[in-house]
Parts: sequence; structure tokens; C-alpha cells
Amino acid sequence: MKDKVCIVTGANAGIGLETARELAQQGATVVMVCRNQERGSNAKAEIEKSTGSSTVHLLIADLSSQKQIRELAASFLSAFDRLDVLVNNAGVFMPKHQLTEDGYEATFAINHLAYFLLTHLLLDVLKSTPHSRIVNVSSNAHQSAKIKFDALEKVGSYNGYVAYGQS
Ligand SMILES: NC(=O)c1ccc[n+]([C@@H]2O[C@H](COP(=O)([O-])OP(=O)(O)OC[C@H]3O[C@@H](n4cnc5c(N)ncnc54)[C@H](OP(=O)(O)O)[C@@H]3O)[C@@H](O)[C@H]2O)c1
Repeated sequence: MKDKVCIVTGANAGIGLETARELAQQGATVVMVCRNQERGSNAKAEIEKSTGSSTVHLLIADLSSQKQIRELAASFLSAFDRLDVLVNNAGVFMPKHQLTEDGYEATFAINHLAYFLLTHLLLDVLKSTPHSRIVNVSSNAHQSAKIKFDALEKVGSYNGYVAYGQS
């Protein structure tokens, strides 16, 4: 993975943290995307310590905000001219109904729309990088889900498991 540039969203915990660590271990330049500066910095330091890598970067963005996703893509593109692997991993289960600043149900916004928008904004650099990959981390919960678009923003009928499956 040497000389390859990888983005991992939600890279300070769980699957994202271990994915970022393993890519760094394999020699990749890893751009960690985290929503919290402190949690992101701590995870970056932990990865650097455990792998000895000096090519780990941190970008801060709350992926529930489409404005922040656009700023994230612009920051990345101003610093890097290739993208070998985009790992859309950040995800949530929301027990309570919540709308994002853009007015979308939060589970759908973070687990689905954010993946789509970030990929769309980075598509040109992905296409210009030979053999690039997009990995969307998802869940088996989709298997029993049926998307009801007109019900996504309704508070009264909200069920976290249904929203997660739909996302
Ligand atoms: N674990 C499982 O059993 C399982 C099963 C099926 C699918 N998945 C999927 O796998 C992915 C990772 O899950 P996980 O279990 O590793 O979860 P996790 O341990 O809860 O980690 C989720 C990561 O996403 C970040 N994140 C959440 N909302 C964000 C936002 N608005 N903006 C930016 N980052 C955000 C979290 O940041 P904070 O630390 O700041 O919250 C954290 O770094 C998710 O897409 C999930 O749906 C997991």
C-alpha cells in the first residue's frame, strides 16, 4: 500500500479505527475523517504509536452536515492529488428521531446520504487514480428493510431499527 492514499471515515473507533490502523501498517497514507477533534487526535496518535507510521492525517467533519462534507472534500483535494481507496465507514444507530441541519432524518443522512455525497465529490480524483476502490461499509440489517421515503422525516412513526435498516 506504499504511495497509496486512503480515506477512512469514522476512523477513531470500531471498524474504522482498525481499518485505518491496518492500512497504515501496510504503508498507506491514511486520511482519517472524524467528527471530534480530541477523539480523532487520540486515535491518530494511537495508530502512529502502534504502527510507526508517519503518514497518518486527520480531517475533521461531522458527516451529518452536507456543508461539512463539501468542506471536507475541498480540504482533501487541496492537499492530495490521488485517492486510491475511499472507505465510507462512519455510521450510526439513532434510538431517537433526529433531523440534521439539512432537514434529513439523521440515520439516513449519515449512513446513506453522506456516503453518496462524499463519493460524488471525490469521484474525479478516484477516476484519475489507477485501480482505485470505493468501500461502503453497510449492514445485514438492510435485508429486512423496505425504504419508505415519505416516512423518513416523520417523528411519530420513528423506529431506530427500521431507520437503520432503511439507511
Ligand atoms: N459493529 C457492528 O456489528 C456492525 C454491523 C453491521 C454494520 N456495521 C457498520 O459498520 C460501520 C462502523 O460501525 P462500528 O461498529 O465500527 O461503529 P462505531 O464503533 O460506533 O464507530 C462509528 C464511527 O463513526 C463515527 N461517526 C458517527 N457519526 C458520525 C458523523 N456524523 N460524522 C463523522 N463521523 C461519525 C463515529 O465517531 P464518534 O466516535 O465521534 O461517534 C465513529 O468513529 C457503520 O457503518 C455500521 O453501520 C457495524
